[in-house]
Amino acid sequence: SHDSAESLGLSGKRVVITAGGTLEPLDPVRYLGNRSSGKQGIALALAAQQAGATVTLIAAHLEVALPSAALTVQRVETALELQAATELAADTADVVIMAAAVADFRPDHAEGSKIKKRDDSADPVITLVRNPDILAGLVSRRNARGARQLIVGFAAETGDERGDVLDYALAKLERKGCDLLVVNQVGQDGQGQEKVFGQDSNQVLILDRDGSAPVPAEGSKQAVARAVVERIVNKIDAFQ
Ligand code: CTP
Ligand code: CA
Repeated sequence: SHDSAESLGLSGKRVVITAGGTLEPLDPVRYLGNRSSGKQGIALALAAQQAGATVTLIAAHLEVALPSAALTVQRVETALELQAATELAADTADVVIMAAAVADFRPDHAEGSKIKKRDDSADPVITLVRNPDILAGLVSRRNARGARQLIVGFAAETGDERGDVLDYALAKLERKGCDLLVVNQVGQDGQGQEKVFGQDSNQVLILDRDGSAPVPAEGSKQAVARAVVERIVNKIDAFQ
């Protein structure tokens, strides 16, 4: 079902994709988590492989099984582990796609043993510290090396009284400095988050840092993945 141009658009390219939600430990048995099925990241990995790329999937917590396809998969748990694994893999990659849901904050420390309910002391208070912005860090590293690497971010946005989805997305694209930002439109037509998280269908806008018009894509996560890969192929072709 793929013509050869589409199938070979990433041949010889190394693509790193992050997927799933990071888990930030509180104690040996508990964590703070981020709701992310990992489906979009996995679909991207398969689409990139279909397009001829050598793919490394860096997977945090997934709510779906990994495909049996011959992908190189690295499992991580926390944002800091995701950062270390992604930076290392990105150093030799042509394309990096940050589809993971990275926890913005982590507990400032994890207890070495299970937190117990105790009647003789106050209930625990959890102090959070900010996790690094992995995507922005990847852009800085790429720029410092002067490497020709395409970096793609993902974002789920809703509009509110201060701006619409596009306003927020364009500001985020600017802040992160990535080349493409794939924006999931949450709350479209009164739909709630349950229409996005874990579902098989998506409605996205692909924003480009070069200022070209946003490209809409709609349908299954596989269809969105193919649209994102197609956009990446076009931009990589423009490098050469
Ligand atoms: N991201 C990241 N590191 C973080 C947070 C997010 O690399 N600490 C990446 C995500 O993988 C995604 C992109 O940045 O590709 C946008 O994530 P998002 O959560 O929308 O951005 P934030 O900067 O965290 O903004 P917000 O306050 O809206 O959550
Ligand atoms: Ca965030």
